Amino acid sequence: MAANKRLDEAEYNQFRDFLEQQCGIVLGDNKLYLVKSRLAPLMARFDVPSLSELVQKTLSPSSRQIRSAVIDAMTTNETLWFRDNYPYDLLKNKLFPELEETKRGNVKIWSAASSSGQEPYSICMTAAEYKASKPGSPLNVSVLGTDISNAMLDHCKGAEYDGLALARGLSTERRDKFFEDSENGMMRVKREIRTMANFRHMNLLDSYTLLGKFDIIFCRNVLIYFSQEVKAQILSQFAQSLNPNGYLFLGASESMSGISDDYNMLRCNPGIVYQKKS
Ligand SMILES: C[S@@+](CC[C@H](N)C(=O)[O-])C[C@H]1O[C@@H](n2cnc3c(N)ncnc32)[C@H](O)[C@@H]1O
Repeated sequence: MAANKRLDEAEYNQFRDFLEQQCGIVLGDNKLYLVKSRLAPLMARFDVPSLSELVQKTLSPSSRQIRSAVIDAMTTNETLWFRDNYPYDLLKNKLFPELEETKRGNVKIWSAASSSGQEPYSICMTAAEYKASKPGSPLNVSVLGTDISNAMLDHCKGAEYDGLALARGLSTERRDKFFEDSENGMMRVKREIRTMANFRHMNLLDSYTLLGKFDIIFCRNVLIYFSQEVKAQILSQFAQSLNPNGYLFLGASESMSGISDDYNMLRCNPGIVYQKKS
């Protein structure tokens, strides 16, 4: 029997509201095709005969497993190693030397939408390279990676990547230095890098107070999916989670202009980093 993928306008609108309330993601007016293509595979997985029924189950608070799978399916997890390069160059050339002095070496970094781990592990590799280039450096970096997607967090914890993922942004030199062969033809991030990072579930719409304070936050390529109002709330919460003069990296095409005045924008050529106002 062919799966029924019809969804009427009222159901689509209910689903849109659900997604925005649960994770901040705003779907445009003409995204019905996107919803259908991302949710259709879940019909077979949860043995639901129609998309309409899947949406109704998703709206019910008791369907926790379906809700979590739907959120996983609707998030965009596109990422790569050392994305845009400049944040990692800035860590090495400006932020690590500065924080190594003021923080007596202990630097806490939060990768707030870590996807499959490329961003947090790129930060860890940058710290390892910095220490190797500066023998005796007291730098001691710990990275917390968080994401709303449980599937992505499992990927981060496993730290295993296939050839396709490894080819995106990673030099052969870094691959040889920081990865080892794993089963199934994959490569795994080496233990010395893995132990610098921890991962946990966090919805950016929730409160961050339990996470403690950070010296640097990476929140890259996720605010674009949210409304201005939600962006403003998140940027304000980040300012509270940063130590005095702490730094925030947004995505290369993201800006906080007109949304927050908690930060000074530092133009670093190339790239921009925001510093919490003191
Ligand atoms: C496009 S990826 C960006 C990954 C990485 N920061 C980068 O720039 O390469 C966006 C990530 O944000 C996560 N995400 C979406 N909504 C979220 C929310 N409300 N709270 C936490 N993470 C969220 C998605 O699961 C996805 O892994």
